[in-house]
Amino acid sequence: MPNTDLIVVLDVDTRAEALDIVDRCGACRWFKIGSQLYTREGPDIVREVIARGKQVMLDLKFHDIPNTVAHAAAAGAALGAGLMTLHAFGGRKMIAAARGAVEGTGSRLLAVTVLTSLSDAMLRDELGVPETAAQTVPRLAKMAVESGAHGIVCSPHEIAQVRAAVGPDALVVTPGIRPAWAGADDQQRIMTPGEAAAAGASMIVVGRPILKHPNPAEAVDLILKEMQA
Ligand code: C5P
Repeated sequence: MPNTDLIVVLDVDTRAEALDIVDRCGACRWFKIGSQLYTREGPDIVREVIARGKQVMLDLKFHDIPNTVAHAAAAGAALGAGLMTLHAFGGRKMIAAARGAVEGTGSRLLAVTVLTSLSDAMLRDELGVPETAAQTVPRLAKMAVESGAHGIVCSPHEIAQVRAAVGPDALVVTPGIRPAWAGADDQQRIMTPGEAAAAGASMIVVGRPILKHPNPAEAVDLILKEMQA
C-alpha cells in the first residue's frame, strides 16, 4: 500500500483553537487552513503553524485572472504554505501562471475540479456544463496537471478515475474520509482512511473525526496506523 499522508483540518474561528489542535495532534505533519480561519486570523496563523514545525495546506481555492492568481500563489509560497489550492475552472493560463509563481519554492499546487456540492443538474442548468460531474472531473484533472498543477483535490470515490487521468506522480488529495469508528456528519459518499489509501490517495484530509474525538492524538494515531496496515 502506498504511503498516504494525513492532513488535519483547522476549520475553527480562532488562533487559540487552531494552535490547540496543532499541539494535540503532534504525530500529524500537515494542517489545512481554509477561508474560515484565514479570513479571521490572517497570514500570521499560517506562520504560527509552520513555526511549530508543521506543514500547511492553504485552502483558499484561488480563481481569478492569471496575473492575480500568480501574485496570490507567490504570496502563499512566501508565507511557506507547502500546498495551495486553486480552481481548475480558471483554465490553463491561470494554472500555468500560478505554477510559474511557485516554481523553485517548496510550494505545490492542488487543483479543485468540480465541487462535490454541485450535482449534475446544477452543472447543466446553472453553469451550462453539458457533461456529468463524473465526466468533467477527470477531464479537468488532466488539463490542470498538464497546465502545471502538482495534484488534484477530489472525492474519495473519484480517486481511481483521477489517478488514471493524471498518472502516478501527481498528488491526489481527498476529503470525505470517515474511519469506521466515527460518524458520517454531513458527508455523504465517504471512504475509510484505509480504503482511500488503497484506492491510491496521496493524502487524506480529515476534520471532525479528529476534532470531535475525546482524544485527538489517539484519533490521529488510529488513522495513521490504519493507512499503514
Ligand atoms: O470534518 P470533515 O472531515 O468533513 O472536513 C473535511 C474538510 O474538507 C472540510 O474542510 C471541508 O470543507 C473540506 N471538503 C470536503 N468535501 C469537499 C471539499 C472540501 O469535505 N468536497
